[in-house]
Amino acid sequence: MPIGEYFQTADWKKEKHAPVIECSDVINTGEELVISLTIGKEIPHPNTTEHHINWIALYFKPETEKFPIMVGRYDFLGHGASIKGVNEGSLYTAPKVQTTIKINNSGTLMATSYCNIHGLWESTKEIKVA
Ligand code: FE2
Repeated sequence: MPIGEYFQTADWKKEKHAPVIECSDVINTGEELVISLTIGKEIPHPNTTEHHINWIALYFKPETEKFPIMVGRYDFLGHGASIKGVNEGSLYTAPKVQTTIKINNSGTLMATSYCNIHGLWESTKEIKVA
């Protein structure tokens, strides 16, 4: 089965794994678009050595182009691991990130993410350039 068929989608208000994309719906050409990406905004996702979000990747598919453009990939590497044992460490990275882009065409933001237990997730958001 192609990997695309393993990406799961859901309403982020009911499903803690669905990426939440927050930004303006409409911007002007050349204006900075500040994008916030979060996993578990409404229902917090566990963040433990055994169960956590590994990464979020963001793409933008301009309506005028054939393929999506990769915006960035954001890794979350601290999950309480320690020489003392699991969940005994001093650091946990929360699965939240903010990035900024400029676009000159309308299109679709696509966020994908990976939970080490529950697999691949995706969500999308339309952006209009006025
Ligand atoms: Fe999970």
